[in-house]
Amino acid sequence: MTQEWTVEKTGFDTADIELHGSKYLLGNGFMGYRGTMEEYTAEQLVALNLAGFFDLARGSNWRESVNAPNPLYTAVSVNGKELNLSRIAPVFHKQTLDIKTGIHKRETVFPAGEVNITVKAERFVSKARENILALKYSVSADKNVDIVIKTGTDKNIWNISGNHLNYTDETARGDFSELTAESVQLKKPLKVYEKICGLENIVNVGLLHTASVALKANEEFTFTKFGGVYHGDGLENSDADFLRAVNFGYDNLKDEHIAAWDAIWENSDVVIEGDEEACAALRYSIYHLCSIAPRNTDKCGIPARGLSGQVYKGAAFWDTEMFMLPFFRFTDADVARNLLKYRINTLAGAERKAKEFGFEGAFFAWESQETGDDACTLFNVTDVFTNRPLRTYFKDKQIHVSADIVFALWDYCITTGDFVLLADGGLKLIYECIRFFYTYASFKPHKDRYELLDVVGPDEYHERVNNNAFTNAMVKRAADIFILALEKVKTDYPESLENLGENLDWAYDFAKKLYVPAPDERGIIEQFDGYFNLEDVTPETLKTRELKENEYWGCHGLASQTRTLKQADVIMLLSVLKSDYGREIKKANWDFYEPYTEHGSSLSACAYAIVAAEIGYTDWAYKYFMKTACVDLKGDSKQYLGSLYIGGTHPAANGGAWNTAIFGFAGVSFANDRLDISPRLPENWKSMSFKLNLRGERLEIRVDAKGAEIKGAAKTKITVYGKEYKK
Ligand code: BGC
Repeated sequence: MTQEWTVEKTGFDTADIELHGSKYLLGNGFMGYRGTMEEYTAEQLVALNLAGFFDLARGSNWRESVNAPNPLYTAVSVNGKELNLSRIAPVFHKQTLDIKTGIHKRETVFPAGEVNITVKAERFVSKARENILALKYSVSADKNVDIVIKTGTDKNIWNISGNHLNYTDETARGDFSELTAESVQLKKPLKVYEKICGLENIVNVGLLHTASVALKANEEFTFTKFGGVYHGDGLENSDADFLRAVNFGYDNLKDEHIAAWDAIWENSDVVIEGDEEACAALRYSIYHLCSIAPRNTDKCGIPARGLSGQVYKGAAFWDTEMFMLPFFRFTDADVARNLLKYRINTLAGAERKAKEFGFEGAFFAWESQETGDDACTLFNVTDVFTNRPLRTYFKDKQIHVSADIVFALWDYCITTGDFVLLADGGLKLIYECIRFFYTYASFKPHKDRYELLDVVGPDEYHERVNNNAFTNAMVKRAADIFILALEKVKTDYPESLENLGENLDWAYDFAKKLYVPAPDERGIIEQFDGYFNLEDVTPETLKTRELKENEYWGCHGLASQTRTLKQADVIMLLSVLKSDYGREIKKANWDFYEPYTEHGSSLSACAYAIVAAEIGYTDWAYKYFMKTACVDLKGDSKQYLGSLYIGGTHPAANGGAWNTAIFGFAGVSFANDRLDISPRLPENWKSMSFKLNLRGERLEIRVDAKGAEIKGAAKTKITVYGKEYKK
C-alpha cells in the first residue's frame, strides 16, 4: 500500500493476474467484481460473482455460486491487434484501488507500432445501488491513429465447474444491450443490462458493440458505461431501475457511491497512530469485510472466499460466525442480524442434515448455500498422488459449526441488546442445535458425563477424534446459552415458546454433565483424547518428509499421526472463551501448541495473535496480526488443498485482523453488562482509535499506552484495566 487508503502497483507481471483479481476486488454485498483489466476474459479469471445465487453447472455435480456475464467488458484494437495487457508488455502500467471510496483505476500505455496508446479506466460497483456498476474509459495516443473500440457484455467469464447459465434472450440495440439467462439446474432468471454513453457509429454483433474512433494526437477520447445485474426480487422493476441509474449519470452515481462508503467508514474505521503499515493493512481488511457484507438481504451468508469467485463453492462456513461476526455486531448490527437471520432462515436445511446422519435437531452445513443443505462433499480434497478424491470428514464430523452459530447469535443479542431475534427464530435455532448435540453425544454412565466422540475439531488434520477440547467447550457454552436464552424468552417473549418441547430436563442435564477437557498439571489442555501420545514432530520436520508439492497432510497424510496441527484449535478456544481461562493457562498452551501449528489455514494466525496480546507476547501478537491483516495484500496463503484450488480473498482473516486489534491489542471485552478495555498496544503504536456500537450507544474510543478515553457512553458501564472508568 502506498498511502493508508490506496493499494497500488506500478509495473506489470503476468504472474500477478490471479492474485490481483482478488486483491483489487470491488464489491457491494450483492456482487463482487474481480480486479481484472477491462479487456480480460475467462482466461484471466474475470468474474462478477453473485452473492446467494447458486447452481449446478452443466455436467457437474459441484454446486457453486454463479458468475454473471461481464457488462463492463471493453477492449481497444489498433490495426486489428487487440491491446490486451496479458499479451502485450506495456510501456507503463498502474493499477490502483482506493479503499476509502471503493474505486478501481488502471492506466496502461500500450506500444502499438509507431504509436503509444494510453488506456485509463475508472470503475466502481455501486455501494448505493446494489445492482449497478459503472465504468469511465478513456483512450489517447501520442500520434493521430485510428482505433476500434469493442465493448459490450462478455459471456466468456471464469467458471470453476463449467457454465451455469442458459442464455434465453440477447439483444443489442445501438448503445444498449440486454441479456436474459436462467440457471441450469433451478432455472432461476438473471438479467444483465449494459448501456454506453459517448460512443458513436456503433455496429452491433451479438452482445458486443464496435465503433471506430479517429484519435487525434494527445487528445483524450472518453466514454462511460453502465452495467446492471438483476436476479430474485430485483427483477421485478429491473428495466426501470437500470434506466434510473443510467439517467442519474456517471458522476452522480459516483458521488452517491462515495457517500455510501463514507457512511460505512464513519462507523468502522480504525486509526492506528505510529504504524502506517499496520493501519493500512487493517483498513484493507475492513474494506473487504464491508465490500461483501449482505446489507439488504437475510438470504445469504458470507462465502469463505468472499465474492472473489467460486472457490469453496461460494459457501459460508463457521468463518462467518467466529471470525467476521464480531466486527459486524460492533459496527453494523443490521448486517450482523442479516447474517444470523440467514442461519435462522436455513434451519430447515440443518434439520435435514441432522436427519440424514441419524440425529435429531439441527446440524448446520459445513458449507452452506442458499437452502442450508450441505454443499460439502464427503470427498472434499483431491489426492496429488492418485488424483482421486479423498474421503474427508468435514461434512459429517465437524459438528462444532452448530455451536459456533449459537455462540455468535447469543453474543449478538448481548452486544446489541436485540433480544427480539430470539423470538424471531433465534431460540428455536438454539434449541434445535442443542437437540442435535444431545442426540450426537454419548452418555458414559460410569463417568456420569456426556462425551462427544468421533468429531473433527478446527484442526482438520486430525479427523474422527474423541472429545476435541474446542468442540466440547463450545457445545457446553451453547448448552448454557440455551438455558439463558430460554429464561430470557420465558420472561420477555413467552408467546414464542410454543414450538419447543414440553420437557426440557434433558437440556439442563446435558449442560451440566457435558465433559470439557481441563488443563493438566502443566496447565495444558489436550486437543483431543490421545493427542499427547502422537509423534512429537513439528511442521518443519513434516515438510522435509513431503514427497510431492501440495501433498495433503490430513486424511492418512503426514500430519495425521503426529502432533502437527493445521490451525489454531486449543488456542482458538482460548481466544474465544477468554474469560473461562486464566493467563497462566493461556501462556502454557500458547507455548505448547505454537511450535506444532502449521497455520495451514488463514484462520489460524489471528487466534494466536489475540492470545499472544493477552499474555504479553506483544512481538508475537504483532507478527501474527500482520500475517492475518496482510494475507490478501501479499497473497501469502495456500493456493491448493491437495490439487483443489483454494485461492481468493480471505474474509475470516480480514475479520481476524479486526478482532486482534480490538480484542487483542485494545483488550476490549464485554461481559455481564460491562465493557472492559485493557489496552496492550505494540510498542510503536502511539494510539489506536475506533468506534463500537453497544446497545444503541456509539462509543468513540481512543487507547494508548496509558489507558483509554471513551466518548459517547452515557449508559454503558465501563472499566479500564478492570477499574471503573470515570466519565
Ligand atoms: C479451514 C476451515 C475453514 C475453511 C474455509 C479450511 O482450510 O480448515 O477451518 O472454515 O478453510 O475458510
